[in-house]
Amino acid sequence: DWNMPDYISEAVASIRAQVGTDDVILGLSGGVDSSVAAALIHRAIGDQLTCVFVDHGLLRLDEGKMVMEMFANNLGVKVIHVDATAQFMGHLAGVTDPEAKRKIIGREFVEVFQAESGKLKNAKWLAQGTIYPDVIESAGKGKKGSHTIKSHHNVGGLPDTLNLKLLEPLRELFKDEVRKLGVALGLPHSMVYRHPFPGPGLGVRILGEVKKDFADLLRRADAIFIEELRNTYVDPNAEKPQTWYDATSQAFAVFLPVKSVGVMGDGRTYEYVVALRAVQTQDFMTAHWAHLPHELLGKVSNRIINEVRGINRVVYDISGKPPATIEWE
Ligand code: XMP
Repeated sequence: DWNMPDYISEAVASIRAQVGTDDVILGLSGGVDSSVAAALIHRAIGDQLTCVFVDHGLLRLDEGKMVMEMFANNLGVKVIHVDATAQFMGHLAGVTDPEAKRKIIGREFVEVFQAESGKLKNAKWLAQGTIYPDVIESAGKGKKGSHTIKSHHNVGGLPDTLNLKLLEPLRELFKDEVRKLGVALGLPHSMVYRHPFPGPGLGVRILGEVKKDFADLLRRADAIFIEELRNTYVDPNAEKPQTWYDATSQAFAVFLPVKSVGVMGDGRTYEYVVALRAVQTQDFMTAHWAHLPHELLGKVSNRIINEVRGINRVVYDISGKPPATIEWE
């Protein structure tokens, strides 16, 4: 248990001692860990830090805007925003297998990141938001003889060919400590307490082939679901009312490339289906589906069908893990 301001000044001093006058690169994903690492390192060395934010076109609604707003505008962090949507979509065209999709997204991510960091000639360090559970996890994997670098990191386990030294200032922290640190560094509560989001993003939430049109529909449906979860209390009369967003561990929409018949006004529709998934879990190894109130589900369904042209049916996933996984792919 440590005192936050003391912790921050110690961490700042140690980062300064480590990197001296060198420049540092960090791959910002919009997730909690890389965001907190960026805020901490920026506090320590200011403009010696450059963040690279790769937008693969599979992020949530307005996520790119939000990241740029928070880091570049509010905190004054140097951020290079790379819109690589076309490149990712190009490589994903025609690919339907989930693991093949993951591989492509991971590989392209590394490629784009490398190309951008190659332009920063003075960088000597690569910063990563590795936290203590990641350290343990990769150690365990090493013992089993598989890879030692965490491959599911959004940064995809960056290759040694970058020739950079690793800076991992969160290596000793647990998730809850990282979150407290983030708030103390001035990051908004809503970002620091966000649900986890997988590195391949919407790529594993669009079943089968990923298309930009599908991603656009899914982004809007997902944003409606999340907005309603954030706006609805589990028990409004509780002493400290908790929203359904905070009462669930992960919640999102999934795009099903299946068309079903509907009616709208006088006409028939023949459009796509969206599934909603919300789970409660401690460790993400097992999970229960969340018993969301029917009124809430009904409101989300109505809004999605009315507001997102192209979706005419919404279903709710009531599968536990196991046997189902949290993501659909
Ligand atoms: P599953 O679907 O395996 O998910 O029950 C467990 C947790 O892991 C996340 N997840 C991923 N995270 N890259 C990531 O960075 C991935 O490829 C990936 N697949 C699943 C998932 O969102 C959940 O939190």
